[in-house]
Amino acid sequence: MNSQLNEKKSLELIFKGLRARRDIDFSSYREGTIKRRLSRRMAATGCDNYKDYFDYLEKNQEEYGRLFMDLTIKVSRFFRNRAVFEILSDKIFPDIMSAKESKNDRTLRIWCAGCSFGEEVYSIAITLVEYLKKHGKKIDDYNISIFGTDIDDKALERAKEGVYNTEAVKEINNEILDSYFILSKAANFETPTKFRPHLPSYLVVESIKNMVNFSRHDLTSETKMSPPAGIVANYDLILCRNLLIYFSEPLQKRAFSNLFNSLNPGCYLILGKSESIPEFLKPFLVKQNPQHKIYKKI
Ligand SMILES: C[S@@+](CC[C@H](N)C(=O)[O-])C[C@H]1O[C@@H](n2cnc3c(N)ncnc32)[C@H](O)[C@@H]1O
Repeated sequence: MNSQLNEKKSLELIFKGLRARRDIDFSSYREGTIKRRLSRRMAATGCDNYKDYFDYLEKNQEEYGRLFMDLTIKVSRFFRNRAVFEILSDKIFPDIMSAKESKNDRTLRIWCAGCSFGEEVYSIAITLVEYLKKHGKKIDDYNISIFGTDIDDKALERAKEGVYNTEAVKEINNEILDSYFILSKAANFETPTKFRPHLPSYLVVESIKNMVNFSRHDLTSETKMSPPAGIVANYDLILCRNLLIYFSEPLQKRAFSNLFNSLNPGCYLILGKSESIPEFLKPFLVKQNPQHKIYKKI
């Protein structure tokens, strides 16, 4: 009984340590996922229990960074779940833009929450530019804002650099790759060594980088509903994919309220494959596609 109490206390201390350093509270994330990820770091550092691991963290402060990296799962890739980007181009952009054009409104606001290293944000920007090109529309005729947010500052720094390795771009077709990326031997970049220096790198072209803004935002925040630059939320499209699955139910509820309140009526919310909207939002968000988690706010 005592050892169980000690373990609980040590786990709380680990969360407290992370909160103090990274301003994020993992205690309401899904317990199973957090414990699995913690065990990986414990195995890597030769610790058998939370108490030993907490002592290790305190003696080796850089381990907090590694743990944080492991707990905020970063898996992403360009055009992840390609069909969603096709739907964006074939249905969502035309729907949003024709509704706006009928009101002579030339603004378009997109928010990608939990954007990891930026792959998803740039994929959206490229899809939008391709859509405009295909329909003979000029990008300069629109006032486009695309925000990528994440809780992890280091991931956001990398996102701003817009440099990716071969693995990240492997699903991009050659035409898009040639049009929107510059292939370089890493040595040509100003900050090459941060990212797999021995491999060729793909740098997102400046015109796409200029369309997007990255900033830190905690989706579970009780005070900041949406990204700083978007205090008046008004989003036409929000993507929040493969992040909510890591939250416990109460945390999901808070995050969903933030997303919902930030979305314009008649506009779209896209979730990851294994995510769904909670019961309390079902009367207000209509599913648009049987296979994909695409919802329209009524
Ligand atoms: C698995 S990635 C998803 C990346 C991308 N959306 C995709 O589907 O490919 C989850 C991201 O959510 C971020 N994250 C975790 N907790 C967060 C929070 N409370 N607020 C904002 N972002 C968070 C992580 O840092 C990570 O980059």
